Amino acid sequence: MGEQAFLDREFPMTSANFAYIKKRVYGLTGINLSDHKRSMVYGRLARRLRALGMRNFDEYCRILEDDNSKELHDFINAITTNLTSFFRENHHFEYLKSTLLPELMQRNIRTKKIRVWSAGCSTGEEPHSIAMVLKSFASLSNWDIKVLATDLDSNVVAHGRAGVYAAERVETVPEQYGKYVKKNKHDHSYCVDDEVRQLITFNQLNLLNEWPMKGKFDIIFCRNVVIYFDMETQKTLFDRYADVLTPNGHLFIGHSENLNKVCDRFNTLGRTIYQRTK
Ligand SMILES: C[S@@+](CC[C@H](N)C(=O)[O-])C[C@H]1O[C@@H](n2cnc3c(N)ncnc32)[C@H](O)[C@@H]1O
Repeated sequence: MGEQAFLDREFPMTSANFAYIKKRVYGLTGINLSDHKRSMVYGRLARRLRALGMRNFDEYCRILEDDNSKELHDFINAITTNLTSFFRENHHFEYLKSTLLPELMQRNIRTKKIRVWSAGCSTGEEPHSIAMVLKSFASLSNWDIKVLATDLDSNVVAHGRAGVYAAERVETVPEQYGKYVKKNKHDHSYCVDDEVRQLITFNQLNLLNEWPMKGKFDIIFCRNVVIYFDMETQKTLFDRYADVLTPNGHLFIGHSENLNKVCDRFNTLGRTIYQRTK
């Protein structure tokens, strides 16, 4: 789509407006928007301009300049891509169940403690899938297990915390874990069982900022998040993940991501599963 097409739309967006938005998004979130995302960005932000009664992107960019602007929050929420599903890339959950948890039960036998972080958890399907696998191990019932679920976008964090999903969302929950999702009586939605939800703490967190967590994690899931980051941001992030993992801790990343030339502190175990080595 050419420059003129963006000027003729309901809310004119100049290339200078788009360049400013790109810069602001990168600075606030680490997300690196390419030029072909201009149409997507227009669509997502047009809703914000309509809600604010604005006429063009000059006006909108002006309010983004203020670091204390209340709009920054909605701006970030509008820009993030939150695509996710229960048991997405199911081989990770199979590995967790068949290999990693039995291994961790040996390794942590003295502390009887397991800590997992779902970083960039979106609407919560990922941490709920992790918690369902953990809950399905009867022998872990007296262990101290916690799953931390964080995302930059406050709307998706609230959704995950509520644990309520449309019927079609829960279709990808494997049969063996079906008992952990219950149909609500009053509508067609489904609710994740309390015994699973109790394992998870949902918090809003920008991965680029300081992390308030004190203890180490046995496992980190950071899947389909860094694809939007440039190399430098990825390098810093994976180095920080290695710092907060236990010495042999595991890292799960998305299907189109890899640590090659990004971080040498992990050993690949295949299929986007890594183990910290240093
Ligand atoms: C495509 S979703 C992936 C969800 C889930 N991990 C999965 O693989 O199904 C990417 C998530 O990363 C979050 N995200 C993007 N930049 C972030 C940042 N700087 N800090 C924390 N979360 C971020 C987005 O809000 C979005 O919910």
